[in-house]
Amino acid sequence: WLGLIVVPLAGYLVGSVPTALWVGRLLRGVDIRDHGSGNAGATNALRVFGWKIGLFVLLVDMGKGFVACWWLWRLGPLLSPAFELLSVSWQLIAGFAAVLGHIFSVFAGFRGGKGVGTAAGMFLALLPVQTALVILLFVLVTWRFRWVSLGSLSAAATLPLLVWVSARWAAAPIPAPLVWTTTGVALLIFAAHHQNIRRLRQGREPRLGEEPQKKG
Ligand code: G3P
Repeated sequence: WLGLIVVPLAGYLVGSVPTALWVGRLLRGVDIRDHGSGNAGATNALRVFGWKIGLFVLLVDMGKGFVACWWLWRLGPLLSPAFELLSVSWQLIAGFAAVLGHIFSVFAGFRGGKGVGTAAGMFLALLPVQTALVILLFVLVTWRFRWVSLGSLSAAATLPLLVWVSARWAAAPIPAPLVWTTTGVALLIFAAHHQNIRRLRQGREPRLGEEPQKKG
């Protein structure tokens, strides 16, 4: 049972690393949450600090989800051998904890990012084909409408549908917990984007390259 404590805790701590916040403080001496959309994520890092820092933050944030699913989960079966057969469940626990850590970061006063990059890394480790397809969708929607939030929401909503369809028709079976987790993560990402959703509905969401209005 030790694994049930250690794996989520390790995932949460890795996910909690507030890349945008620390990089902003270190390189520019500012708290990114006081600028742009106020979000400690890759999109706002791109907006406030430029594409190089934005890309760096994106890669590190994706890396957190990937590492949680690729390596951290191994602590589970190691500490609780009875659960060895459920390796996918351990991966899901580690990855989900990393996404939660990214959003509710203990190192950022529980005001982290919106979970998209970390979730992308998590699902690239678990469902590379479906995730690559929704990343493509993200790029297309963002490029077409120039709203990153709309790209993120479209990708988050499409992944569970794609996984559900694959689970029914794919030759290799997809474990049910994986299908539920994509849904859970999508709901989490929608909740984290509640302000973006409100602004999109009101026509106030800034497009890429536009300066956001003050918070709200
Ligand atoms: O992944 C976050 C993105 O979807 C929205 O970011 O800074 O525009 O709220 P932001």
